[in-house]
Amino acid sequence: MGGSTGPAVPTVPTVPKYRYPAQFGGGEEELLARIGDLLLRGGYVLGEEVAEFEQRLAGYLGSAHTVGVNSGTDALILALDALGVGPGDEVVTVANSFHATAQAIARRGATPVYVDCREDDFLMDLDRLPGAFTERTRAVILVHMFGKAADVPRARRLARDAGVLLVEDCAQAIGARSHGVRVGTASAAGCWSFAPSKNLAAAGDAGAVSVQDDELAERLRLLRHFGQPQQNRHEILGYNSRLDTLQALVLLHKLDRLDAWNARRAEVAATYRRRLAGLPLRFQEPGEDGEHVYHLFQVRTRTEDERDGLLAHLTASGVDAVVRYPTPLPHQPALAGPAARRHPCPVAEELSRQTLCLPVRPDLDAREIGQVCDAVAGYFASRTSSGSVG
Ligand SMILES: Cc1ncc(COP(=O)(O)O)c(C=O)c1O
Repeated sequence: MGGSTGPAVPTVPTVPKYRYPAQFGGGEEELLARIGDLLLRGGYVLGEEVAEFEQRLAGYLGSAHTVGVNSGTDALILALDALGVGPGDEVVTVANSFHATAQAIARRGATPVYVDCREDDFLMDLDRLPGAFTERTRAVILVHMFGKAADVPRARRLARDAGVLLVEDCAQAIGARSHGVRVGTASAAGCWSFAPSKNLAAAGDAGAVSVQDDELAERLRLLRHFGQPQQNRHEILGYNSRLDTLQALVLLHKLDRLDAWNARRAEVAATYRRRLAGLPLRFQEPGEDGEHVYHLFQVRTRTEDERDGLLAHLTASGVDAVVRYPTPLPHQPALAGPAARRHPCPVAEELSRQTLCLPVRPDLDAREIGQVCDAVAGYFASRTSSGSVG
């Protein structure tokens, strides 16, 4: 690498993938006043604002209950625990997800089994799902990857016919709809992350589980709080996984703005598709209106070499592009094992080698979109002129 004469890589990208201060959308004074009040008054753990947020979130989603927890990872672990998933069980999920989906399964002592994804929408290939069920399968975790809703009614039918529970990993897809219904509301449990990168972002770690069943909600409330219905009485083995009151305040502030932000993300995505049409790229299929909330905007190149070259070119151009995810779950050392190799996942492998994400934020402006599109087009123009591509 020494002696390279290429352009210096900007140390701070000029088109960042996150811009946290822009995530408040005005009205910060009121939020800061509420935070100041909380700091001086106490009630930091399971304060009344947590219940307020849980109710508002349930109303937004259309679920009977939501239970605030410490993170999206904990949402998955607690949901599986509350549903009775544990050692000896198999849980089927998709090979291209964030590692937490499968780590939660393994943390419960159950075995993750992977299904490949589809070429068009990059989501779990539901045609292959029944083939992954065995007599040990207890649950399926359907993941709405990159913000695109998977086909929940179909997954539900397949799970029900096999006597298997359906759980949704909704971490990347708040607000997305499957057949007109918000994800996370038509299964045994929807698991949410409000980590700072997410479409609805806390100022730190936060998560929730949405459920329709009253008893399940009660069990989740017990689990998140040491299994303790009252002080000094521990009925079941629980966790310390409460949603902080401070995070509930931040989330309450942002929830009303979420649909407008998601609509803006969809506009940015539509602009990318239009302006990048004609280049040798493929995109994740968007589905019907409202199915995709564009947590991430994926582009797919023809080869790994092309993807790596595009990534390097974008980085050198100040565009904060990133690969999500470079290693399919069955290849992660912590998650590998005989069950991980049971079903081949060639599409997930190709996606891990051929995709990258362009920045998508509600506040991405015309200059930034132009800079991204020019950089992408510039990369392919330079390859054509240098004869790299036939
Ligand atoms: C698909 C998916 N599942 C689970 C998680 C875990 O959420 P958290 O980081 O809040 O633990 C994330 C995000 O980070 C995610 O993207």
